Amino acid sequence: MTDIRNIVVLTGAGISAESGIDTFRSDGGLWEQHRIEDVATPEGFARDPELVLRFYDMRREAILQKRPNPAHDAIARLDAEWQGELLIVTQNVDDLHERAGARRVLHMHGTHLNAWCTSCDARTPWTGPMIDRPPCPVCEARSLRPDVVWFGEMPYEMERIYSAIHRADLFVSIGTSGAVYPAAGFVRDARQLNIETLELNLERSQGSQWFHRSRQGPASQLVPDWVDEMLGTGTR
Ligand code: OAD
Repeated sequence: MTDIRNIVVLTGAGISAESGIDTFRSDGGLWEQHRIEDVATPEGFARDPELVLRFYDMRREAILQKRPNPAHDAIARLDAEWQGELLIVTQNVDDLHERAGARRVLHMHGTHLNAWCTSCDARTPWTGPMIDRPPCPVCEARSLRPDVVWFGEMPYEMERIYSAIHRADLFVSIGTSGAVYPAAGFVRDARQLNIETLELNLERSQGSQWFHRSRQGPASQLVPDWVDEMLGTGTR
């Protein structure tokens, strides 16, 4: 890798797997235990809000008890030390990147730790349950929902992401299956722009063939090794 200055890192559930947070598409993963249509679509929420709120209350509570692993720590180190541009685009709704100390993080699928009021559009930090339909702290309507992007909804801050990819010299994808768009398409956008691309994943992802290089293994090993390489040899 030569003359790398600006980096976009995309992370998925695989980076949090070793912290004990279930991925979606592994054997026994979340989407085997729950139907996407029931718990991750606006239609499912309209049909049965209690089921959806209970599902996210459980996930929020579980996430709060997890800790960042060495992969999150390594990304935070990159964030602290990398002097070029860096954007950490995560599909994850946990806050383990932030708890490891990373700052340049963008949650394209939202976060479990915000409540979104569908009456006044306010987003409020939230760690408690929502099942009792608590009032919005801003407008007091009982219209809160988890601030997570469901299937059929537009991911957040797409313009900022594409603009970072356009300026990037390197696109790195970590712990994501490449099954969900638009994130799954970023590698092809990067290729069209002649940007260097690297995948770090437990196994080859669905989009593996699009990457210049793909390394297989647990994120807790691959990511610290890669960050060492970047901080040791990258142009900063
Ligand atoms: P997936 O569950 O689809 O994929 C997780 C990937 O991580 C798989 O390719 C695993 O092989 C890999 N993996 C598992 N353990 C790992 C480890 N220890 N180290 C490295 N890699 C590991 O999760 P995502 O790709 O993040 O969206 O899923 C994308 C989106 O689909 C999620 O954001 C969510 C989901 O439906 C919404 O809810 C909108």
